[in-house]
Order: sequence, then C-alpha cells, then structure tokens
Amino acid sequence: MNKVHSPTLSNDRKTIALQRWKILKQALTGSRSSETRTSDGSIRRFSGYGLLKTEKLSMTPEGSVWYQYTAPSQPGFAMSVRHLPGTIDASTLLGFNNTGNVCVWPAEEVMTDYCLKNSEQFRDCSVCELGGGMTCLAGLALAIVSKATSVLISDGNEDSVENLNVILSHQDNQSQFDNTKVSSRLIRWGGDTKHEDLEGRFDFVLCADCLFFDDGRADLADLIFDILKPNGKAIIYAPHRGPTFESFRDLAQKQFHVDAQEKYSPEVWDLHCKMKMNESGIYDENIHFPLLMTLTKHS
Ligand SMILES: C[S@@+](CC[C@H](N)C(=O)[O-])C[C@H]1O[C@@H](n2cnc3c(N)ncnc32)[C@H](O)[C@@H]1O
Repeated sequence: MNKVHSPTLSNDRKTIALQRWKILKQALTGSRSSETRTSDGSIRRFSGYGLLKTEKLSMTPEGSVWYQYTAPSQPGFAMSVRHLPGTIDASTLLGFNNTGNVCVWPAEEVMTDYCLKNSEQFRDCSVCELGGGMTCLAGLALAIVSKATSVLISDGNEDSVENLNVILSHQDNQSQFDNTKVSSRLIRWGGDTKHEDLEGRFDFVLCADCLFFDDGRADLADLIFDILKPNGKAIIYAPHRGPTFESFRDLAQKQFHVDAQEKYSPEVWDLHCKMKMNESGIYDENIHFPLLMTLTKHS
C-alpha cells in the first residue's frame, strides 16, 4: 500500500469542528465552495483545479442555475447540470446533511476527470455513485461517455436526489446515454433503510468527499461492501479533512484490499503543487486536495 502523508494529525478534533462550522456558515450565507474572507471584507474562493469548465446557461425562478460542463481534455464532451441555489433556511438545517447542495467539491471534480479519462474501464460494468450531492458529476459523466451497462447516481439528501432526477431528465443528457441504463435514487448509509435489491450488484462504486462524517464511516464501508460484487472496486476520492481519510482507511482494511495514493495523476499533482505555492491563502490542502483510495472486495 502506498504511504499517504498526513499533514494535520494534531489538533484533529478542533480542526474538524472548525471546518464543520465553516461549512455551516457558508451554507447559511449562500457562499459557495471553500471561501476565504480577506481583510477588506471581499470573498475569495478555491473553485477547483480547472479540470472541468462551466458555462452558465440559465437560471430558474427559484435561483437554481443550469450550467454546461465541458472538459478541456475531452473535446466534444458536454453535460447539462443544475446547481441548487446554495442558501438554506432553518428547516433545511434540521433535515439531512446539506453539504452536497452547497457546491461541487474538488474531490468530485477530480473523480469526474478520472472517469472521463478512464471510461473504457467501465465498459459493460454496473456503476453506483454514493453521496454524489446535487450533481453526481462523475456518475453523470460516465453515463454519457462510457459503455457501462448501468449507472445509478445517488445521495442521502432528498433535495439532492430531486435535483439529480431533473438533471437526468434533461434532454441534452438523455440523448447521450445510448444503451447505458441511467437512474437516480435516494441511498443512505446507516439508518434503518435496507437496500437489499442493491446487494452484490455493482462492479464499481464511486464516492467523493464523504469520509468526514464521524458517525457514518463504518456504515459507509459496510454499504460499499454489501453492494459490490465479489472483486468489485470502490473508487474513492477525499481530502484528509483532519484524520478522517486515515480513519476510513483503517476501517476499510478489515473488509477490503485497500490502496491509497496521493500522486495518482501527474496532472493533478502538478496543479496541487502550484496551488500550494500560491500565496493567496485560498488553497488548503487539508480540505481541498483529494487523495485516492481504492477498495477491492475479496472474492
Ligand atoms: C461534502 S458532500 C460531497 C458531495 C459530492 N460528492 C461532492 O464532492 O461535491 C457529502 C455528501 O454526502 C452525503 N451524505 C452524508 N451522509 C450520508 C449518508 N448517511 N448517506 C448518504 N449520503 C450521505 C451528503 O448528502 C452530501 O451530499
């Protein structure tokens, strides 16, 4: 197994608590992605590595925005994706976790880039994305470019799944699915709901930035194990976020063969190093730079 360097193993609990409050504040104020407020009060944010490009298409009366996503590395590729407004009210706060409706996180961007560049790997396979938030970008991209048999995109948040349904029914996306059976559904790890119909069904599970829920890691590992076929693989991208990546790796080793890497792509590593050298202070590798973890279910 490759060694993964962990930059912030001290003060872990404090760091995670601060990150959670930051996410909550961002969600309440409607600010997107990971933002930094400068001394003059303006906001700067890390909006991703530039592996994908977005062009605003339209806005709904409720404030949701349709974007066309393209990828410089994949000429001709385009998908239509709706983002939810991002602001939440008190009732949303009482509901299920909302972090997937605030922005597309860098781990999802990098996972999408991986799927676009390795689509052949998924030919004739069944794929499920877990915790994909309001866009499930990686799963949607695969549904469009790969010859997968089926792609199921999912999240545990109802608003996210409602948005996924709308995205899948967009004609520009539907017309590109070809023979791949594409669907969306609410899937939660933990809790009382059983997903018996999904057991042993998938060759691949995709998951981005879902390892930092302390009370969810064991349930997530169990769900991945249950829904994968023997020899099936989970492709997981997630930043360190304190000790949470390592904690999940330790846990997963009980059930899977685990491989973890930080230099999984020369291009992403190069972008990461450049971001780190940038002195603007908007890039925090602990919450932005996704590591890659691959889980293989023993047969
Ligand atoms: C940080 S967001 C990541 C969303 C998306 N993958 C991305 O990177 O943009 C974490 C996601 O995990 C989902 N989530 C949290 N706990 C969950 C659970 N128990 N079951 C299913 N989804 C869950 C949230 O709804 C949210 O969409």
